[in-house]
Amino acid sequence: MPPSSAPLDSRVWIRSVFSLYYTSTYQFFAMVYAGPQGLRVGVAGAGRVGHVHIENLVETPRVTVVAVCTVVPAEQERVGKLVPSAKIFRDFDSFIATDFDLVIICTPTTLHYEHVAKALKTGKHVFCEKPLGPDASTAWAVYEEALKYPSLKVACGFPRRFASTFQETALRVKNGELGEIISVRSQSIDPYMPSEFFDNYIKTSGGIFVDMTIHDIDVCLYLFGTDERPIRAYASGSAKMFPQFAAWGDVDDAFGLVEFESGKVMALYGNRDSMQGHHAMAEIAGTKGRIIAQGHPHLLDVQITDPTGVRTVGANSHMELFITAFKNELRAMRDWILDDVEPAFNLKDAAKAVTIASALTKSLRQNQAVDIVNFY
Ligand SMILES: NC(=O)c1ccc[n+]([C@@H]2O[C@H](COP(=O)([O-])OP(=O)(O)OC[C@H]3O[C@@H](n4cnc5c(N)ncnc54)[C@H](O)[C@@H]3O)[C@@H](O)[C@H]2O)c1
Repeated sequence: MPPSSAPLDSRVWIRSVFSLYYTSTYQFFAMVYAGPQGLRVGVAGAGRVGHVHIENLVETPRVTVVAVCTVVPAEQERVGKLVPSAKIFRDFDSFIATDFDLVIICTPTTLHYEHVAKALKTGKHVFCEKPLGPDASTAWAVYEEALKYPSLKVACGFPRRFASTFQETALRVKNGELGEIISVRSQSIDPYMPSEFFDNYIKTSGGIFVDMTIHDIDVCLYLFGTDERPIRAYASGSAKMFPQFAAWGDVDDAFGLVEFESGKVMALYGNRDSMQGHHAMAEIAGTKGRIIAQGHPHLLDVQITDPTGVRTVGANSHMELFITAFKNELRAMRDWILDDVEPAFNLKDAAKAVTIASALTKSLRQNQAVDIVNFY
């Protein structure tokens, strides 16, 4: 390392001046293209995930939140404090009629088709929260609707595609480090969360496979990296911690197995009742080796030893563990629209994931393996 008083190499100066010139020119044209407000964003839904997205958008460069829609009065008040300049709406139709560029849809799953279709009709790019719909036909209807508007960008949000651990794994798989892929085993474990909110949420969620394990299905599709055809699904599970879920044909502890035409296997585990907190992970096996992504649910690399034993600091929630990934996915959406940078979103995978999740739900309810037919 040179002493700090050493004169700078002239090449470093030239490079710095050029880089400054290039960066400011790029920023100037990006600003002129995007306008002084950058990308004007409207957020539909300001509940659990909508609020996280609004918080992230507020600190995202080249983005302005101009409108928010929520039917919950307490959320209207909370959003008003977070983004005082945004116009707050109570009904979706007047919200979507407003002039902005991109809508982030964080409303209940059963409303996604209606809200995506209306957004496209008013000329807006769309980022829709997972899942695309509560069942396969609705999810494919969203996909078909998006195809009708080739100039508009439509994405379904799956934060794990934007988490560094999964991105690193996908890169190594793509580079052939694991040889031919044999299987992907993926899990989502959420902390036990007894609440009235949760009971109500379950009713419109589409069930554990469509609502939660969909993240794992998407991880598998992302890591397979090719357009694979699923042929059969088998599921099992129980509702020991939340017996009330049985009324909606749902469980809180779910296992799923999906076979593909190519012979690849997807193994899934979803759990909503963990006493030890959150843990999302995946293991991908190939003919040359295997990779485990997020094998340990550590939020911080801190190990605590006390009379109760050895512990590590874990994440309390999905949001906490994936906060950077949530920020990254919105930045990817922004860059896709403003700069035409190809993102990791895959709308066909998002619809395919709901087909697979629906087949698993059917298998769970019928207590037998089901063939995946009528696949797009
Ligand atoms: N990516 C993730 O990890 C993640 C996490 C949580 C939820 N989600 C998804 O996000 C969606 C919302 O889930 P949530 O947990 O935030 O739900 P939530 O119940 O907390 O919030 C729902 C929001 O939708 C609004 N809303 C309801 N009906 C409306 C209507 N008719 N018009 C306009 N707004 C309406 C409500 O005002 C509320 O703000 C679901 O599809 C869910 O699957 C994704």
